[in-house]
Amino acid sequence: MKNFNLSVALLFFLGLSCLQAQERIPEVEELLKKMTLEEKIGQLNLLTPGGGVATGSVVSEGVEAKIKAGKVGGVFGVSSPAKVRQAQELAVKNSRLGIPLLIGSDVIHGYKTTYPIPLGLSASWDMDLIKEGAQMAAKEATADGINWNFSPMVDIARDPRWGRIAEGAGEDPYLGSQIAKAMVQGYQGEDLTQPHTMMATVKHMALYGAPEAGRDYNTVDMSRLKMFNEYLPPYKAAVDAGVGSVMTSFNDIDGIPASGNKWLLTDLLRDRWGFDGFVVSDYTSVNEMIAHGLGDLQAVSALAINAGLDMDMVGEGFLTTLKKSVEEGKVTEEQITKAARRILEAKHKIGLLDDPYLYSDESRPDKDILTEENRKLARKAATRSFVLLKKHNNTLPLAKDANIALIGPLANNKNNMLGTWAPTGNPQLSVPILEGLKNVAPNANITYAKGANISDDSTFAKKVNVFGQRIQIADESPETLLKEALDLAKSSDVVVAVVGEATEMSGEAASRTDITIPDSQKKLIRELAKTGKPVVLVLMSGRPLDISEEMALSVSILQIWHPGVEAGNAVGDVLFGDYNPSGKLTNSWPRSVGQVPIHYRMKTTGRPGPESGEFQKFKSNYLDSPNTPLLPFGYGLSYTTFEYSDVKASSKELNADGSIELSATVTNTGNYNGEEIVQLYIRDVVRSVTPPGKELKGFQKIALKKGESKTVTFTISPEDLKFYNYDIEYVYEPGEFEFFIAGSSDSEFDGTFTLKK
Ligand code: BGC
Repeated sequence: MKNFNLSVALLFFLGLSCLQAQERIPEVEELLKKMTLEEKIGQLNLLTPGGGVATGSVVSEGVEAKIKAGKVGGVFGVSSPAKVRQAQELAVKNSRLGIPLLIGSDVIHGYKTTYPIPLGLSASWDMDLIKEGAQMAAKEATADGINWNFSPMVDIARDPRWGRIAEGAGEDPYLGSQIAKAMVQGYQGEDLTQPHTMMATVKHMALYGAPEAGRDYNTVDMSRLKMFNEYLPPYKAAVDAGVGSVMTSFNDIDGIPASGNKWLLTDLLRDRWGFDGFVVSDYTSVNEMIAHGLGDLQAVSALAINAGLDMDMVGEGFLTTLKKSVEEGKVTEEQITKAARRILEAKHKIGLLDDPYLYSDESRPDKDILTEENRKLARKAATRSFVLLKKHNNTLPLAKDANIALIGPLANNKNNMLGTWAPTGNPQLSVPILEGLKNVAPNANITYAKGANISDDSTFAKKVNVFGQRIQIADESPETLLKEALDLAKSSDVVVAVVGEATEMSGEAASRTDITIPDSQKKLIRELAKTGKPVVLVLMSGRPLDISEEMALSVSILQIWHPGVEAGNAVGDVLFGDYNPSGKLTNSWPRSVGQVPIHYRMKTTGRPGPESGEFQKFKSNYLDSPNTPLLPFGYGLSYTTFEYSDVKASSKELNADGSIELSATVTNTGNYNGEEIVQLYIRDVVRSVTPPGKELKGFQKIALKKGESKTVTFTISPEDLKFYNYDIEYVYEPGEFEFFIAGSSDSEFDGTFTLKK
């Protein structure tokens, strides 16, 4: 028996090596044969000349000389067809083997035509739109010479203190996975050798969105069960969608930072998930393992390559220490060859080995970048990302001839429309809200006053102004600004106050312990409310905010995130009713920062808090707050209203090899045509590891005319009911399931079915 097993294993192994041999790319293998150890190591080195995207501390020296010496595999922070051609020529004409470079960039939410920040776009729940956005970004970026993108960022985030929550798709693994897939497909297209597609990078693998205390770059500590069921699915979805590369995260995974974690990069990513692209570190994350306490540069570089990391971003630990490690027997040349092969295969995949100048076509930028068509898509995307958080007394939509006092430090402010991580966008090309409202409603009487500074705290402002003048401390005193605003408010019919966060109050290295609107603006809102005029808040932010106070002070609230280059026009479209808002939150919004991390999939615990929300001693609840968030995941209003009825399952039983249809009828019962995002949630009532209280399992966005009804159907099979059990096997377990279909996650279960053995 033992021998039999051995021979089966041997056959399997031989079969596998044959398969791999068959899949090898002859051009790449030829190159590898010619390469010295140093040249192979050179391919693993990623640099940024002049620190193009200045987020890290290391700026590479002598990039040009290194390219000529074959010591660079790729660069980022270089753009325009001419500059990219120059860079490629350095490599192709001057280095011994003439291997072209990967040209990377952070194209996070549009290239030059910036569309809403990812968290905003996720609120559209519109996969076609998200894919189209990524396609547009790829077309623009490749026209400017980029062939490799550091996006999508798919880190699940449930802590709004963390600034990079802005860059992801919110708290839910199911929705996050759908979005990850749509983005990869959008960037990479059907054929990566086409010049309008670019290789995508899923980041930051893994768990980067769960730092302790919401502080960026902080330690993460998480059980395997939670990883597999909640945090890993979006990375896996990107891998399944064929993503070309994976970027590691800065944080620990079970005690070993991602960039040096063999379990993560080899056992899971390659062996379990079958990933066949290459892995790049984050900015100096290999070197940072020294500070983490894992040894000197040579030790951490060896740790990283042995773990399965292929490319070292900026830190040059690979370049400067790997040869020595090979000589000392700490790393095998075979390991380095494997990594170099993956980089070369990527270059082959995107067509660079056949034509190094594929992305250096000087005629493209004029044709492909910031076109009218692209701006139209950015405007549409922005309108779909807005979430109506409150509506009262039909204040919205506004009449196109209304008498409006437009007030607030973000109301006429080009600098803050694009949002975080838009290094290639030009804020000066963006449409501020004042201009947009006038474009959409030229007959309205719109007067404007700033009303307050974004913040009156100059120490805070300095921190926020690292990359630009996002917060200007006005010469005028706050009192003068306020008086001007109140005078305008009193003579208007309605106040529209545009308030919230400046661009760099969210994003990388922008964590906050206070997630309210800055004090200067809170005061303004209080005073505006006292005038007795209806106050509509247009709220801009890169994170869920605590708006408990503002919910009471305003008649309506429209959450617009950071909407991108077409901000003002999109806000006009929605405020004046040309588009009826349909976005739904992809994070739970807490009542206060004390509730975080908070999300809708929380487990019930052994001592659930009472459903009434009333405090009960020795139950899981707070003395000073209900457990529920202020606004739940999936929540968002419309100018019209929708009613759900006839929620049902096609059968009471689901067979192991069958499927079941869960459906509901949705009716537009209000006075406007509108769109609704219909959501299906289930609960696995009994299983071998404690289930979440509920889980999103499907959604559909439908359009309904006034008075119209539609039946929405979800087909569910046992595959959809799988989860990772205690042994991290992906299984379903027979038994009872509850479900509901509704317009938000905070609904009651109203149906059941049983999954049979
Ligand atoms: C960020 C990455 C980004 C990289 C390169 C890092 O600081 O964490 O998301 O891709 O910089 O710009």
